[in-house]
Amino acid sequence: MNTNLRDESTGPQSAAERVERALAPQLIYFNETLDLALPRERESDQARQIVVAMRAACSGGKRLRPMLAFCAGGIFNVPRESLAGLAVCVELLHSASIVLDDLPSMDDAVLRRGAPPIHRMFDEATAILAANGLIMLAFESLVNKSPNVKNEVLLNLVSDAAKTAGHAGMIGGQHADLTRLRKKNPSRKSVEFVHEHKTGKLFEFAARGAAEIGGASHAEADDMTQFARNLGIAFQLSDDLLAATRTREELGKESRTDTGKAILSTPFDRAWARGAIDRLIDDAKASLARFGARGQNCLDLAESVRERARE
Ligand code: IPE
Ligand code: IPE
Ligand code: MG
Ligand code: MG
Repeated sequence: MNTNLRDESTGPQSAAERVERALAPQLIYFNETLDLALPRERESDQARQIVVAMRAACSGGKRLRPMLAFCAGGIFNVPRESLAGLAVCVELLHSASIVLDDLPSMDDAVLRRGAPPIHRMFDEATAILAANGLIMLAFESLVNKSPNVKNEVLLNLVSDAAKTAGHAGMIGGQHADLTRLRKKNPSRKSVEFVHEHKTGKLFEFAARGAAEIGGASHAEADDMTQFARNLGIAFQLSDDLLAATRTREELGKESRTDTGKAILSTPFDRAWARGAIDRLIDDAKASLARFGARGQNCLDLAESVRERARE
């Protein structure tokens, strides 16, 4: 018996399904492009293990940040080839951040994407070196895989990538997570700082970078940045909510020191998080008002984060 009550003729019902369908070609293109950007095992006998570790670190992710770059680029009609360097760069920076985040000195993860994290699959030194290799490759890919992107735009993107990942961005947010949020009763302000930096900055880079490649005005690029900032914070909150309410089997990941889960350990905190996600997604969507229907994939991507928090 067919238990699927969804009428296929009226199209997918949830925002997640809509955006997944709309971005299916970009996802295939992205995965092929990433595969080509990563070093080949057979080409580097001497460094085989580090290459295998770098490839393993990039396998199995949802590719949310590159998909955000493609959605944002779509608003400005950017051909996908011109977004390849940005999309690969942001995913490699994300993958490196995950390898480091999982280390015993950070979240001490035992499971990532349903498999052992890189430092358990190999060893700690290999994981640290693989993360560094991925960061280097992120910059190389941005520069070498951005056809038809003007040199001055590319130069800005390289600088933005460094700021995004660095002390004033993701690395600063990770450090604040490990210091400020490991204390008892951290303030909401600290929580927001951590989410904005450790997660939001990469989202901002993906969306703003795509807008800049597309020749957006300053005001348009600022709106895309605001959209992505709110989306990134909401995504981190939704991920922390799931971490607090789901099993390791459902999530495919588990850490021994998860600040997100600790922050949202009471039903009161979780209710606050749900309210905050609602406000952040509403604000994110409002930032795209000027783009009208051209922003639909971005709007659906944002709505899918709200859906995820309600699951
Ligand atoms: C996990 O990000 C880390 C957070 C910022 C919450 P994702 O959920 O995007 O990770 P993958 O790449 O899909 O595994
Ligand atoms: C990861 O945050 C953020 C970065 C790696 C920058 P979390 O520690 O909350 O993510 P998970 O739960 O390990 O995926
Ligand atoms: Mg962490
Ligand atoms: Mg973690």
